[in-house]
Amino acid sequence: MHILALANQKGGCGKTTAAINLAAALAAHGERVLLVDLDPQGHATLGLGHDPAATSARLDTVLLGHEPAAALLLEAPGSFTLLAGGPCLAEFEARAEQGIDASAALARALAPLAERYDWCVLDCPPRADGVLTLNALRACDTVLLVVETGAFALQGALRAREIFRAALESLGRSAANAPRLRVLATLFDRRTRFAREVLVAMHARFGADLFDTAIRSHVRLREAAAWGLPVRELDASCPAAEDFDHLAAELLERAPGAARAVLTPRRRRRRGAVVPRVDKP
Ligand SMILES: Nc1ncnc2c1ncn2[C@@H]1O[C@H](COP(=O)(O)OP(=O)(O)OP(=O)(O)O)[C@@H](O)[C@H]1O
Ligand SMILES: [Mg+2]
Repeated sequence: MHILALANQKGGCGKTTAAINLAAALAAHGERVLLVDLDPQGHATLGLGHDPAATSARLDTVLLGHEPAAALLLEAPGSFTLLAGGPCLAEFEARAEQGIDASAALARALAPLAERYDWCVLDCPPRADGVLTLNALRACDTVLLVVETGAFALQGALRAREIFRAALESLGRSAANAPRLRVLATLFDRRTRFAREVLVAMHARFGADLFDTAIRSHVRLREAAAWGLPVRELDASCPAAEDFDHLAAELLERAPGAARAVLTPRRRRRRGAVVPRVDKP
């Protein structure tokens, strides 16, 4: 099971939107996917039509080791599985503050599910240092930094990488056992020259650590969240669904042991992916 932590200390940059829609896109590629909502806001849970305040599926009880994760799995629209989060996670944060060593709780809870899923997508809260994000950083094999392609995007991405590297180091995950840090550009408006230039600068700085696929700004993503659906369930042919499809394909090509050929940016572009031309700023 590949474990991806979608993270950024900055709020509102598209982490939850990416988590939901990437999970759905991987599932549409035939992968077995689990999405874990690690945010007390419970937006991924809400965005998949479930109630984050429900008392029946409390992720805190799983993290505290009182219940196996398998007992709380919910079906998400789009043929994948959800481990719901929400306000109950504040309880876990409070218990952790009282001194229990809690940063390995998620890794422990997920271990029995490793054969059941191909991918686990972790939607993190907007911070790098809280116990919930630290759990994600301990459990994951890839940190996917979600970066809004606006003003200061490059500086923001570099800062986020620094902050998350330090957080990983605090967990002793800085050398051979460090997860890979990759950057996903989102909220991209390709009609503006400015956004295109930002993306080119990010490509120049991050190289292969930046996903070729950028997620465009699209109103359908907001509408889908309001309906409690991944965007492909609302409108499978819209550009937003296409972008997540390309992102999933990119992940599948590059996953360890993947059988698929890695496409060049040019071939990716021909298939409709939003990939900037780095040689022409
Ligand atoms: N590519 C996009 N196009 C249009 N709207 C988007 C896109 N990505 C995210 N949004 C919208 O931006 C807002 C913030 O997105 P989202 O909740 O995914 O961010 P977040 O990083 O998870 O926020 P938080 O830090 O609070 O958890 C939401 O209203 C969402 O619908
Ligand atoms: Mg979120």
